[in-house]
Amino acid sequence: MSKLPTLRIGRHTPKYPILQGGMGVKISGSRLAGAVAASGGVGTIASVGIACDHPMFRGNNYFDINEIAMAEAVKTARAAAPDGVLAVNCMAALTDYDRQVISACEAGVDMIISGAGLPMKLPEYTANFPDVAVVPIVSSVKAADLIVRKWGKQYGKLPDAIVVETPLYAGGHLGATKMENVTDPAFSLEAVVPDLVKYIEETVKADIPVIAAGGIWDRNDIDRAFSLGARGVQMGTRFVCTDECDADDRFKRAYLDATEDDVVVIMSPVGIPGRALRNPFVEKYISGQVESKPCMAACLSHCEYLRSRTTFCIAHALVDAYQGNWDTGLFFVGSNVVKCEKMDTVAGIFRDLVG
Ligand SMILES: Cc1cc2nc3c(=O)[nH]c(=O)nc-3n(C[C@H](O)[C@H](O)[C@H](O)COP(=O)(O)O)c2cc1C
Repeated sequence: MSKLPTLRIGRHTPKYPILQGGMGVKISGSRLAGAVAASGGVGTIASVGIACDHPMFRGNNYFDINEIAMAEAVKTARAAAPDGVLAVNCMAALTDYDRQVISACEAGVDMIISGAGLPMKLPEYTANFPDVAVVPIVSSVKAADLIVRKWGKQYGKLPDAIVVETPLYAGGHLGATKMENVTDPAFSLEAVVPDLVKYIEETVKADIPVIAAGGIWDRNDIDRAFSLGARGVQMGTRFVCTDECDADDRFKRAYLDATEDDVVVIMSPVGIPGRALRNPFVEKYISGQVESKPCMAACLSHCEYLRSRTTFCIAHALVDAYQGNWDTGLFFVGSNVVKCEKMDTVAGIFRDLVG
C-alpha cells in the first residue's frame, strides 16, 4: 500500500490524513476520539448534548454541564492520546455554540470542526487560542466562499482546512436545505471537491487543504478522494461498529443489522434533512404521529419543534439512540451502514486503510 500524503491543519499534523467525523449525541465521545487520535488519525469528540448522561445533569443546568462534560471529555481523550491530534465538533446551530467552542479550547483541544449551519463567528470564539485550528464543514463552493469572505473581512482569518461533506452519502444532518438537494449530483464529492480546490488556488490564493467526507469506506475511496484534489478524508459511519465507539451496543447492533431499505432521509427539527435508520420512531414521524417528549433545554437556535410542536425533540431522540432504545431513538447513519457487517477495532480499521 502506498504511503498517504501528509496533511497539515493549522499547527497540527496527524500521522495519517484521516479524520473521524464528530457524531452526536455522544456516538463519538472521548473513547472513540481518543482511540482514533492514538492510532494516528484526527479523533473528534461531538459536543452536541454531551451533558446528557453526566452525573451532575439535572435538566435545568444543561448548558453549564455541557461545559464541564466537554472539559472532562477532552481530558480523557488526551490521556488516551497524549501526542495525538484531537478535535471537537461543534454544530453552529447550537444555542450554546460559543460556550462549547470556548470550553473545548480551554480544555486543550487542537481543532474545532464546525458545520450544521455556517460557522460565521467561529474565529471570534477561538481568537485567544492561536494553536486551535478552525475547520468549517460545507457542502458547496458557495458556502465556502461566504465563510472565507466573512472571516477574511471581519477577522483577517482563513480556514485552516475545509471539510466538504456530500449529502449524497453522509450520516446525520446533511448540508442541504431542500430534500431534492440530497440526491443532486451537483453536491457530489466529484463535483464539489475539484471546484473548491480550484477556487482556493485561483480566488483565495492560499494553502487550505480540502477534506472529503461522505461515503468514504476503504482505501479505494480514500485514493479516489485524493485524485479529486482532497488532501484528507473524514469518515463517520465506519467508526461506529468498533469496540471503542461510545454508543450503546444496541446502537452498533442496529448498524450491523441494517439493509439498504432501512436507510431513510427525514426532515429534522433543525430544518435540514438528516439520514437515519427506519425504526418505529421514524415510521411514526413519517406518518405524522410522533409523541415527543418535552423540550430538554432549548438547545438549538432554530428548532421547529420548539416553534410549532409539529416535529419532535431531537435531543431526546438522539440521546435515546445513543442509549440503544430502538423504539424511541433517532439512529443517524451514513448510507455506508449497509457495509457494516462485523465489529472491528479502531486499530483494525487503520491497519486496513493504511497498511
Ligand atoms: C451517527 C452520526 C452522527 C453524526 N453527528 C454529527 C454531528 O454531531 N456533527 C457533525 O458535524 N456531523 C455529524 N455526523 C456526520 C459525520 O461526522 C461524518 O462527517 C459523516 O457521517 C461522513 O460520512 P460517512 O458516515 O459516510 O463516513 C454524524 C454522522 C453519524 C453517522
